[in-house]
Amino acid sequence: MLGSQFRSNKKKKFVLLRSPTMPSDLVRRLEGKVAVVTGGASGIGESTARLFHRHGVKVIIADIQDQLGRAICEDLGPADCTFVHCDVTNESHVRDAVDAAIAGYGKLDIMFNNAGIVDPLKQSITENEKSDFERVLGVNTTGVFLGIKQAARVMVPARRGSIINTASVSSIFGGVATHAYTCSKHAVVGLTKSAAVELGQSGVRVNCISPYVVKTPLTKDFFKPRPEDGKTSPGIYSNLKGVELETEDIAEAVVYLGSDESRYVSGHNLVIDGGFTILNTSINVFH
Ligand SMILES: NC(=O)c1ccc[n+]([C@@H]2O[C@H](COP(=O)([O-])OP(=O)(O)OC[C@H]3O[C@@H](n4cnc5c(N)ncnc54)[C@H](O)[C@@H]3O)[C@@H](O)[C@H]2O)c1
Repeated sequence: MLGSQFRSNKKKKFVLLRSPTMPSDLVRRLEGKVAVVTGGASGIGESTARLFHRHGVKVIIADIQDQLGRAICEDLGPADCTFVHCDVTNESHVRDAVDAAIAGYGKLDIMFNNAGIVDPLKQSITENEKSDFERVLGVNTTGVFLGIKQAARVMVPARRGSIINTASVSSIFGGVATHAYTCSKHAVVGLTKSAAVELGQSGVRVNCISPYVVKTPLTKDFFKPRPEDGKTSPGIYSNLKGVELETEDIAEAVVYLGSDESRYVSGHNLVIDGGFTILNTSINVFH
């Protein structure tokens, strides 16, 4: 495959790795667009902000991690990237982030509502704190609601735009994460569908993405090396072999949903999980 390389892997034959040059670099698929990326200072949001930029997007990074967010903007170039301190649970912060896109670049084409958190995993719901539950719902669901609302404020009059929300495989399966996280991500799918119905009437598309577990600061506890084989990846649970999910794979999906190539796709949950959620491992006949 163009722009990629292979690394030998002890158990599997090959693992496909990314190189800085991927096929999508050959065409700037989002030239001239303007995007707000919440949670853009780290992980999936950072990778998306960087890939957006490579595709010609002016990016607003909206995050609570000021130092990291500013450093990325410095790296991408101050003319192309602006950092806005934004706590997505605070409506005036989200409003400011959207307004920064309009003030700085004249419009908003893509709103990527991606900021998210997890709460500590407890083995019993009886040990869960209400405050943790509400905190996770506040960022992961209310934050997405505010992002959709504020983006709609400017996209509906313009009669165009693409809103993309980050859900998770926890929007489909129970038992992959905490009660609060699972609940918050199921809600993102419902919110996506509901908003897509309303905003579709104004030419605005609303979709979400559901990634499988990928290595970021959010999931560092999933990636502790196991003493028996030293593996650090949860990829063993995924159906698709030979590829390890990276944040850039998720960014590629967001580029598609933000681009005009997906102009008839709305209300969709784009699952990026190597087939994890389509397989019931207890009844797999293909062994
Ligand atoms: N990493 C995974 O395996 C995985 C899988 C599926 C879905 N997700 C989702 O992807 C999204 C991004 O997560 P990530 O893995 O890149 O984690 P991350 O911790 O690297 O990035 C999350 C970003 O959100 C920001 N953030 C947190 N609270 C915020 C708030 N109140 N306001 C604004 N910004 C805030 C953080 O500062 C951070 O920069 C989240 O919604 C997460 O639930 C992650």
